[in-house]
Amino acid sequence: MRTLYGELQSFGVPLVCAGGIGDANGLRQALDMGYSACQLGTRFIASEECQASKAYKRAILHAKESDIVLSARITGVPVAIINTNYIKRSGLQPGWLARWMLSGSKTKHWMRTIYALKSIWQLKKSSRDETGECDYWQAGKSVAAIDSIESCVTIIGNLMQHFETETK
Ligand SMILES: Cc1cc2nc3c(=O)[nH]c(=O)nc-3n(C[C@H](O)[C@H](O)[C@H](O)COP(=O)(O)O)c2cc1C
Repeated sequence: MRTLYGELQSFGVPLVCAGGIGDANGLRQALDMGYSACQLGTRFIASEECQASKAYKRAILHAKESDIVLSARITGVPVAIINTNYIKRSGLQPGWLARWMLSGSKTKHWMRTIYALKSIWQLKKSSRDETGECDYWQAGKSVAAIDSIESCVTIIGNLMQHFETETK
């Protein structure tokens, strides 16, 4: 987070920290560092309103930073997911056919289209999967700071509380 900020600040544009923040401390740190705003994704999967399966939400609560891995099997570019038993069995790299297609100047366009279409269906199905046995659960390293399923109002309230007590 700090390294990226150091590399990008010379552009002189507002920077949004898009990843790795799961609680008020992380938010505070990023803003103190100089980021103009933060984007939180994983924190809101573990919310009451999110339609993801209970198994997926529980996996986020239990996951450590080291449980997050990058898989190139879903879209052809790295996607952060929880390293479930299914992922450990199936690996993180595309299969031989996908690799071969991605290496050709014409076939790579076909492969990217197949990935794009497949991932729309696959990621939605995975998010509803209750077994955790056979699918992809997207999550960032911010899982480390997430330990409860709350309503979005409570999540945002907890994030903001930190700032409200400071301004009183
Ligand atoms: C369910 C889910 C879907 C996501 N889809 C995309 C995506 O399509 N493209 C992308 O660039 N990032 C995607 N992301 C990554 C988010 O942009 C990233 O999670 C966000 O910036 C905040 O990081 P955080 O999840 O650590 O809070 C996705 C993340 C999650 C959790």
